[in-house]
Amino acid sequence: MQFSITVANSSHYQFAEAICTMMAEAAKTRGTGIAQRTPDYIQQKMKEGKAIIAMADNIAVGFCYIESWEGLKYVANSGLIVHPDYRKTGLAKRIKKATFDLSKKKFPNAKLFGITTSMSVMKINSDLGYRPVTFSELTKDENFWKGCMSCTNYDILKRTNKTMCICTGMICDLSNVPEKNIKQNEKKMWEKFTRFITLRKIKIQKKAKQYPKLNKIINNEK
Ligand SMILES: CC(C)(COP(=O)(O)OP(=O)(O)OC[C@H]1O[C@@H](n2cnc3c(N)ncnc32)[C@H](O)[C@@H]1OP(=O)(O)O)[C@@H](O)C(=O)NCCC(=O)NCCS
Repeated sequence: MQFSITVANSSHYQFAEAICTMMAEAAKTRGTGIAQRTPDYIQQKMKEGKAIIAMADNIAVGFCYIESWEGLKYVANSGLIVHPDYRKTGLAKRIKKATFDLSKKKFPNAKLFGITTSMSVMKINSDLGYRPVTFSELTKDENFWKGCMSCTNYDILKRTNKTMCICTGMICDLSNVPEKNIKQNEKKMWEKFTRFITLRKIKIQKKAKQYPKLNKIINNEK
């Protein structure tokens, strides 16, 4: 399947509704990780040249947009979505790389960060040069954290005073992107990252006693 992956513009406004529907359906299935956006919001991102769209046969099959926080200090590549029929084909990786390159062009001195529960997103981010961090290294901008309010785990974030949640925080300094695109380096970073995740899991399990809901999530209880 041939995809066109480009910076979205006004010619893509007609796909904003379908993109929102894809996001809403993914949020329903996963329950975490995707801030709900309106078609107007998506169109605004297209207008500003801050979004990447993947098209296949005049159908929008993937999307991701850039948000900035605390002026130009922090940026996030948010709302990554791939149509369920086109997943596991490497499409998300290509969309994320295009959004990463666009962010570097528009915000060369910013810290690019993200929070996610998705292992595939963590793998993509790690390959791009993000490293895992605690939430204290992320933006303090309240408007960013408001995006978490539609997540089913928001109460955990609230109770921990934004110090931890189910998501993993990752960051990449765009002014100093580590040497990448070298397979060996990607592998090393991913191994380092999985070690971090294992240690984090142990830490969360210790804390889980204080937070019964966290305990249930860790143990996959309803
Ligand atoms: C998350 C999502 C965008 C991934 O899309 P995708 O097109 O299937 O992803 P890709 O095919 O590009 O795969 C990404 C990478 O993750 C890896 N991966 C997938 N599952 C993995 C897992 N459980 N552990 C580690 N790596 C994993 C893949 O192997 C691939 O890496 P590689 O190319 O180096 O082998 C897609 O599932 C989606 O739209 N989900 C709903 C919305 C969502 O959850 N968005 C993320 C919000 S943070």
